[in-house]
Amino acid sequence: MSETIPSPNIWETPDVYEIENRGVDRTHVIEDAMRSVLDWTGGDVLDIGCGTGFHLPHFAQDARSVVGVEPHPPLASLAAERTSDMPSVSVREEGAASIGVPDGSFDVAHARWAYFFGPGCEPGLAELERVMRRGGAAFVIDNDATRSTFGQWFRRALPSYDPRAVERFWERQGWQRERLDIRWDFDSREDFEAVVGIEFAPEHADLILAEHPDATGVDYAVNLWHRRY
Ligand SMILES: C[S@@+](CC[C@H](N)C(=O)[O-])C[C@H]1O[C@@H](n2cnc3c(N)ncnc32)[C@H](O)[C@@H]1O
Repeated sequence: MSETIPSPNIWETPDVYEIENRGVDRTHVIEDAMRSVLDWTGGDVLDIGCGTGFHLPHFAQDARSVVGVEPHPPLASLAAERTSDMPSVSVREEGAASIGVPDGSFDVAHARWAYFFGPGCEPGLAELERVMRRGGAAFVIDNDATRSTFGQWFRRALPSYDPRAVERFWERQGWQRERLDIRWDFDSREDFEAVVGIEFAPEHADLILAEHPDATGVDYAVNLWHRRY
């Protein structure tokens, strides 16, 4: 599938990415902000780029139905396995630009660190326009590289990243932004080191770990982009 964006962190080490997901935003800042825009209780939810399906059971607690979309076959299988005893959840091996469901199928769409990284994701935005129900809301969660300790690590590792260009992209598309302050918090130094090791190239990971010799977590700024339909 040509529009699939390689995600070495979760593709190569889904077990470490699971640790990462368990340590992200333990106080549910992202979920609270999403619910204040539109609550999904009783609604139909789409999770785009659902990976191993970490978030699907959580949505299923309140939603009427949940569809996870994931183009990388081994991950789509893991997501299906994770939710095999959940009748309201289904997983589709597809990309964001071509979701095989009827028009107006979803009340809430969620894409967390997946596909919607600014310029280039227009085909996925067009597909969202089609699959969202009127009155629904779509959410994209991505790094805010302009703030926080994690943001500094990110910019140092990816100096060509232009946060302003990404902001301008979403503004042109008519999306709104909420700046959120979350954390990574892990149970052990070993977990922290493992997660830093899948998110950064070795030279950057070594620098981060040397600069933060006792850390098991970090402050992490994210952007919650959202749009109503
Ligand atoms: C960093 S992972 C995040 C997974 C998941 N959202 C989570 O929070 O656990 C990014 C995911 O986006 C998927 N992806 C890549 N290209 C995609 C596309 N065109 N449409 C939908 N998902 C895509 C990857 O295969 C990967 O599973």
